[in-house]
Amino acid sequence: MNSIQFSFNTQTSETDTLILPVNDKGEIPEVVENITDRDVLATTVKSLFDNQDYSGKPSKTMLLIDPSKTQWHRVLLVGVGNLEKLTAKSYISIVKATADALDHCGTKTAVNALVFIAPQSIEEAALAWSTMQNTMIFQKSFYDYTHESRGEHQAKDPNLEQVIFPCSQQTSAALQGQSSAIGMALTQDLANMPSNFCTPTYLANTAEELAKTYGFESNILDRQQMLEIGMGAFMAVAQGSDTPPKMICLSYQGADADQAPIALVGKGVTFDTGGISLKPGAAMDEMKYDMGGAATVLGVFKAIGELKPNINVVGVIPSTENMPSGNAVKPGDVVTSLSGQTIEILNTDAEGRLILCDALTYVQQTYKPAKIIDMATLTGACIIALGHHVSAVLGNNQQLVDQIRASGERTYDRFWQLPLGEEWDEQLKSNFADMANIGGRPAGTITAAQFLARYTKDINWAHLDIAGTAWVSGSNKGATGRPVPALVDFLLKQAN
Ligand code: BES
Ligand code: MN
Ligand code: ZN
Repeated sequence: MNSIQFSFNTQTSETDTLILPVNDKGEIPEVVENITDRDVLATTVKSLFDNQDYSGKPSKTMLLIDPSKTQWHRVLLVGVGNLEKLTAKSYISIVKATADALDHCGTKTAVNALVFIAPQSIEEAALAWSTMQNTMIFQKSFYDYTHESRGEHQAKDPNLEQVIFPCSQQTSAALQGQSSAIGMALTQDLANMPSNFCTPTYLANTAEELAKTYGFESNILDRQQMLEIGMGAFMAVAQGSDTPPKMICLSYQGADADQAPIALVGKGVTFDTGGISLKPGAAMDEMKYDMGGAATVLGVFKAIGELKPNINVVGVIPSTENMPSGNAVKPGDVVTSLSGQTIEILNTDAEGRLILCDALTYVQQTYKPAKIIDMATLTGACIIALGHHVSAVLGNNQQLVDQIRASGERTYDRFWQLPLGEEWDEQLKSNFADMANIGGRPAGTITAAQFLARYTKDINWAHLDIAGTAWVSGSNKGATGRPVPALVDFLLKQAN
């Protein structure tokens, strides 16, 4: 596992890289403190500026190697422009540009003076705010997947291991940031791991290890038990796979036992072929990420194991592969869910809602939670609607949705709300069962949530569609660790 160590130290000698903000006048801004050789560096930077070698414009970076008369091996100049005009958004871009510029330059330890530069709009606890932003963005950027499945012959790129903030300890933000980073690293590891390693059993073992380490309670249901209690929807998806499915339950008790817990439910499809409604071949490998919701639940549990907030939380993960086979469920098959409602499975590729609906019923029956948040890489339509920068949030309680959105804004792990309503619910009508498992092409993300809403009528519930945000495709393919930061923030706020 691979999370960066973040620490605070106002003595900055003997580390190898300095991240140094420079404004658009070629100066090191006054707010930047505790930097060894500051005056020498100021002179160097000013002459670069005067010679028009470096502008200090926002997000422009320049790497100096062994700058003369200083102890630093590397100094990365980072343009911050005019500090009076700096917004939260442009600050985030600057931190991201910094991470890009540092990547693969051989740095193992960096002193990050960007922490001093918080936008003026952040009035309260600005230093704490920037600490957390830096922590989260650095974890996302510098994470490097390490697992035996990668193959030992593969040379590992040099990677950043430690970030030192040269300011006084920002206790609560530091704890939240570091613990979120540790949780994100687990989420990233599990999601990146190929499906021949990361099976439902592997996820169950990971949950049991977390339980042992942090004192959670765990309960794992196997296929036989789930068939007996009547999880007809989940079992219909699992019947096509020889790999054993699991329902993985974790509970954390940080408050009085009689306080109803917050439930987190995560989709754990360790590989989604589509089943008999087989997916096209292009990029099908990325369907190993279809357990991103499950990985998020486990990552959040890791973080709360570290933070021990004053709150009760349960996590429930339905996990299986979705495979075509001689036993696989077929389009038109009708099944009875744990809730008793019947479902006509018109498309076996809409499997996420089938495993989630039974998990949603099970968590309500078993744990009597106060509210439920489910998270799932549920619909391709979500990527079409919102792209890759925000996750979708939908729910039957506006306050809950608003709180999740606020946590997303604070941690730059953002959400955008989509509507629910009867009009969309009608698209799920079936002639042969209480509902169909698909609602046609229009508003695919909403109709998927509308399906889940039929299983959460009596409880405050929010659904997070993370299809566009749980991983990135392309040459940088990899899990992001989202939405761990937002959920950790949400739970901490609930604890207060
Ligand atoms: N896991 C997929 C959704 C998905 C697809 C997420 C691509 C990220 C990238 C889900 O199980 C699925 O296949 N959904 C179908 C639903 C449809 C059949 C109603 C989809 O989105 O095409
Ligand atoms: Mn699918
Ligand atoms: Zn899926």
